[in-house]
Amino acid sequence: MSEPKTKTPSKKKAPAKKAERLFYSCHVFCCVNERDEDHPRGSCSRRGGVELRDHMKAKAKEMGLKGVRINQSGCLDRCELGPTMVVYPEGIWYRCTSNADVDEVLTSHVRDGVPVERLKLGLRG
Ligand code: FES
Repeated sequence: MSEPKTKTPSKKKAPAKKAERLFYSCHVFCCVNERDEDHPRGSCSRRGGVELRDHMKAKAKEMGLKGVRINQSGCLDRCELGPTMVVYPEGIWYRCTSNADVDEVLTSHVRDGVPVERLKLGLRG
């Protein structure tokens, strides 16, 4: 007597639609790591990272940006260049030192899709 044939479920998944691949259209990570004042690498927090992150969150909300998430992060390992932030999905890094810098990143890059060349960090600095 033979076993009844059962259909094995396919392991293939349908390709995801673009909207399903990205939960946020833009995701920003702002380093707020803090080290001792005399640490040789310094830290973003001691260079204003917390205040800049706070400003960015408030400004993004004020601008009504949809699908955008501003998160704090721990050390992003580019401490000497801080305060650092990185914008995804592009993976573009910035060094912002003022609220005006943050506003420019939000307006030009996050809202309009045009990276801010003057604030960008290269791959090596
Ligand atoms: S402390 Fe900010 S990148 Fe390391």
